[in-house]
Amino acid sequence: MASVRSSWNERHTERRTATRPAAFLADREYLLPAGGRALDVAGGAGRHAVWLARRGFEVTLVDIADVALARAEAAAAEAPVPLTTVQADLSCDPLPAGDFAVIVVHDYLDRDVWSALPASLGPGGVLFACQPTVRNLERHPRPSARWLLDEGEIGTLAQVVVDADPALQVVEVTEGWTEEGRHEARLVLRRRR
Ligand SMILES: C[S@@+](CC[C@H](N)C(=O)[O-])C[C@H]1O[C@@H](n2cnc3c(N)ncnc32)[C@H](O)[C@@H]1O
Repeated sequence: MASVRSSWNERHTERRTATRPAAFLADREYLLPAGGRALDVAGGAGRHAVWLARRGFEVTLVDIADVALARAEAAAAEAPVPLTTVQADLSCDPLPAGDFAVIVVHDYLDRDVWSALPASLGPGGVLFACQPTVRNLERHPRPSARWLLDEGEIGTLAQVVVDADPALQVVEVTEGWTEEGRHEARLVLRRRR
């Protein structure tokens, strides 16, 4: 964990982090439940966590990098909104426990983690997942292939989790180029009440 954490700490230290929520989430605000607990998975410097906290959710952000967690805490303090941060290596540590009303995973790909996330949705809870696909390499060298979904893979992932848990409902499975020139795959799932 130490080397992965230190390399992400370096990246967070070197790069300016976006403070606005991704269009993927902002454009789907109408899909948010009325309130409850929210989980921002590998949430980085907290742009989505703060956005959700401003909308009244009780947010937990989990990330491996303490530099990111410190930035997220500073952003929440400035907002000001409450925020719980958890340092964890999601490749081996468990997800924060709970029945969440909202789960966001944006720009973090671990297929095992993605598959496990729907189990943490409470009744009526919504999962928002978004990741670039391999076609993104046609225009951008990063993220590298390790972080990219295959073309069409999002549909397969959705089918696997819905087949395993019939209480899950697919709200959206799409992929394509965004206005910002990114090729991304998007998945929105809801747990029936
Ligand atoms: C590209 S950033 C995305 C951050 C945020 N989700 C966003 O969209 O702004 C990827 C994040 O994943 C975190 N991360 C990478 N590997 C991780 C791991 N094994 N466990 C937990 N977090 C990890 C990094 O620290 C970083 O904050």
